[in-house]
Amino acid sequence: MIILSIETSCDETAVSVVEALGEFPNAKYEVLGNALFSQVDIHREYGGVFPTLAKREHALTLVPMLEKAVSEAKLSSSPSTSLSQEQIEHLSELLYREEGLAGRLITFFEKNGTPTIDLIAVTSGPGLEPALWVGLNFAKALSYLWNIPLVPVNHMEGHVLASVFDSTRLPDLQFPALALLISGGHTELVLMKGWDSYELIGQTRDDAVGEAFDKAARMIGLPYPGGPEISRLANEARLNPNRYTLNPAIKLPRPMLHSDDLDFSFSGLKTAVRYTIEKATKITPELTPELTLELALEFENAVTEVLLAKTCTALEKTEARSLILGGGVSANAYIRDTFQKYFSKEYPDLALYLPDPKLSTDNAIMIALAGHAHAKEALETAEQASIKADGNRSLSKE
Ligand code: KG4
Ligand code: ZN
Repeated sequence: MIILSIETSCDETAVSVVEALGEFPNAKYEVLGNALFSQVDIHREYGGVFPTLAKREHALTLVPMLEKAVSEAKLSSSPSTSLSQEQIEHLSELLYREEGLAGRLITFFEKNGTPTIDLIAVTSGPGLEPALWVGLNFAKALSYLWNIPLVPVNHMEGHVLASVFDSTRLPDLQFPALALLISGGHTELVLMKGWDSYELIGQTRDDAVGEAFDKAARMIGLPYPGGPEISRLANEARLNPNRYTLNPAIKLPRPMLHSDDLDFSFSGLKTAVRYTIEKATKITPELTPELTLELALEFENAVTEVLLAKTCTALEKTEARSLILGGGVSANAYIRDTFQKYFSKEYPDLALYLPDPKLSTDNAIMIALAGHAHAKEALETAEQASIKADGNRSLSKE
């Protein structure tokens, strides 16, 4: 089965072509084509993702990404037939909110025809609704044009599957498995009793961990997205053995570290960063480079400590046999390293899955994997008109 997948939930416009050989979860996967355009340069001046801009950029970039992924995949295709007036009208209707997209798609079709693709997988949530709708409407238009089924995918299931995807296949995962999903929009502990069984057992009460990284970075004066920036400075500080002679050590709180539940809270940490900066800038007008490094380090340490402690509590409560880390923040080198060292020593029987850093942040390969997991349902239900984007789509209800 050849799957074309589309991801537009936030500020990445991504399209992939993935071949699945066999049935989920025992298939082998081959990535035939992969295209991704990151809009970070566009959103940087706003210090975060600006939804209407994201929507416009997705509409501009989807056809070029489709073109790249499909041409990389070198699929054979049947030549395009000329479209009837009725078909053109239907496509225009499906894409009437996405400026210029119908015209670009029709030009693509006239040039490329219908490639040998069996299924389209598209993120339908969670995410920014205006951004999700562009990808979903585009997928509906392609599904109509090529006459192939469409499967709406949960973005968070994509993150889970990307983490366990091991270069070509999914592993023989031992259940129950615990997933710690940490991204710009989510911080969740999810219990999996099987491949298609997700139970939300803990989550953030306010900011997501990636959001906290981004907001703290902004206060420190670092560009968006702040996660990788904080990580870089924290690492620099860690490598400097003399740092405490330059600066008194900063102490930030570890919110909800000892609470008995599995919830998180990161807004207090963000406030503590603001107070620390306010206090320091009363003495010197700007944050000194040393203090900047120190703040980044302490922030990363605080977040990592909380994530680790809550994960341990969840492991004790659930007796999970596997632990999966997923989402954009799981690209963080210090968090990865800390988890790896800790669990190999303290829980030697636990299987720990970390995503390839390239697959940690949003991409379309993970959407193809999740699409394959639900391919059967999609092939059985031909009805597509009613598929809706859902910004708050949850894993738990599925
Ligand atoms: O999963 P993702 O690409 O998008 C969402 O679904 O939200 O995650 C993006 C988030 C951003 O907040 C970004 O700052 C964070 O992941 N991030 C990191 C790192 N790389 C990306 N946070 C900490 N350290 C990193 N190396
Ligand atoms: Zn994501």
